[in-house]
Amino acid sequence: MPFRILTVVGARPQFIKAAPVSAALHQAGISEYLVHTGQHYDREMSEVFFEELDIRPPDLNLGIGSGTHGAQTGAMLSALEQAMLAQRPHAVLVYGDTNSTLAGTLAAAKLQIPVAHVEAGLRSFNRTMPEEINRIVADALSHWLFVPSDVARDNLLREGVPAERIHWTGDVMYDALLQFRQRASERSIILQRLNLIGQPYVLATIHRPANTDDHARLMTILAGLALVARELRVVLPLHPRTRARLDGMSAKPAGLVEIIEPVGFLDMIQLEASAEVITTDSGGVQKEAFFHGVPCVTLREETEWVETVALGWNRLCPPTGAETIAAAILAARGVLGKPAHPYGDGRAACRIAKVILSVGGL
Ligand code: UD1
Ligand code: UDP
Repeated sequence: MPFRILTVVGARPQFIKAAPVSAALHQAGISEYLVHTGQHYDREMSEVFFEELDIRPPDLNLGIGSGTHGAQTGAMLSALEQAMLAQRPHAVLVYGDTNSTLAGTLAAAKLQIPVAHVEAGLRSFNRTMPEEINRIVADALSHWLFVPSDVARDNLLREGVPAERIHWTGDVMYDALLQFRQRASERSIILQRLNLIGQPYVLATIHRPANTDDHARLMTILAGLALVARELRVVLPLHPRTRARLDGMSAKPAGLVEIIEPVGFLDMIQLEASAEVITTDSGGVQKEAFFHGVPCVTLREETEWVETVALGWNRLCPPTGAETIAAAILAARGVLGKPAHPYGDGRAACRIAKVILSVGGL
């Protein structure tokens, strides 16, 4: 009987991570049943990635949608349990640190189905972040922990995870970027559409609850970006969480900031690659800035992707004052770090497929 994996995805970065991994599993002859929890559901947060990145449509979309952490995770847990009982997979594959990851891991662990966790071992050491809780639970319950970096491996070893469960693979997002970079340059017309060719600009993304759900903090970030926009164009593809918070605000201090809808991955690659500076609170975008060799200012107190800071490509700027934010972004122009490859060689997905093949006894 072929080794059967049930994969759980649900949020934007998980579709991007799944693209290279699903392709590698398929190439290795592993049968994959893809479950989309429906955590992200807008076309530009979900469908566009399946279309652009050749991910086959999910076998099942649970359509859970948005909700409080408990309601959303609970609904996913119950629906995923049903799917797992019906499919009886040999293993369950989860990505990253979202509520979909948490629900997938818990459902599988309770059914005694071994879990494979891609992007294991990341830590911000800040438990006020919902993702930190999700990661800790996913790592504690997983059988195979696929780590993107040495730092991630060391975090797990320090927590007492047995070394034989940890597999160093490199980062699947690096695989995704390398695989789709050419396609992005051939197909994306975002730079022409926004009249950005030959123009210096800052690319910004903001979506962490710590930055969006605190009204004063969101106002400060927007005011900081508005200060930058007086000197340098600022393009902000707006996450729907942030859009929802902005819609509820009476004053919108965004000034000349160019707010656009979330973009697909091919457009995002192009926007990142040509930016003068990237400023973000996204995990994935920090790393992509590093891969493109674009200086990054991370609007947080800490980061999981510590290598990007240590190598001088990324600097942390806790967003406490508009002037501080603007100064950090403007000062980052042209500041390059050291060349290094802490996140592997773009073959993380193949390594993951190989480990799964070996455990499947194929
Ligand atoms: C989730 C993840 C976060 C990840 C991010 C990637 C959790 C706890 N958080 O955060 O780790 O970095 O995805 O983007 O799992 N919304 C829409 N349309 C959508 C999706 C969301 O309008 O398609 C709005 C809704 O108002 C919703 C809000 O965005 O309440 C937040 O969505 P949710 O999935 O709960 O969390 P994210 O902030 O997207
Ligand atoms: N991304 C995208 N379009 C956008 C914003 C982000 O395709 O408008 C991509 C980005 O290139 C990266 C991933 O989404 O690959 C990061 O996801 P996000 O910032 O939503 O979540 P995080 O990585 O913080 O969990």
